[in-house]
Amino acid sequence: MKGNLILIGFMGTGKTSLGKLLANKLGRGFIDLDQKIEKDSEMTIPEIFEKHGEKFFRELEKKAVREISERKNLVIATGGGTVKDPENFQLLKDSGMIVCLTCDAEEIFRRTERRGERPVLDGGGEERLETIKKLLEEREKFYSQADYTIDTTDWSPMQIMNDICDHLRI
Ligand code: S3P
Repeated sequence: MKGNLILIGFMGTGKTSLGKLLANKLGRGFIDLDQKIEKDSEMTIPEIFEKHGEKFFRELEKKAVREISERKNLVIATGGGTVKDPENFQLLKDSGMIVCLTCDAEEIFRRTERRGERPVLDGGGEERLETIKKLLEEREKFYSQADYTIDTTDWSPMQIMNDICDHLRI
């Protein structure tokens, strides 16, 4: 497969863990967009949101997308909100193949329980599940533009990896 292999999808769908596994299997470099943003800005994601707000985070995210989409043969894990921006989606699409990971809202709720890591979801208990459902609905139109989509709810990372490799014949 030519170009990059790009993982998109909501928070907690396993983009980073799967990205590492895939990169290892395919002998490709791996870039996690959030980690790149943290490294370049010398701040954690929660710090960026807290000190500068979401708008500023999205600007850093856009800059990082521009940079990585110039590169080739990578496995790239994006952030859950990266493809809300049509230009980000297009740049990533032009640089390779886009795979979307999906997952049930309740399972995302469980997987993202640890506080302080995902500013977009930081709210109360029940309220957090409602936020997840609302955002999933809002973002469905962006996620659904992927070349291939796989539901990760009941599958292990290995099963997901094998399915993607079979599907993409890589
Ligand atoms: C975000 C998802 C996060 C991170 C930031 C915003 C979002 O990435 O980019 O907290 O808007 O969905 P993960 O999907 O890797 O958690």
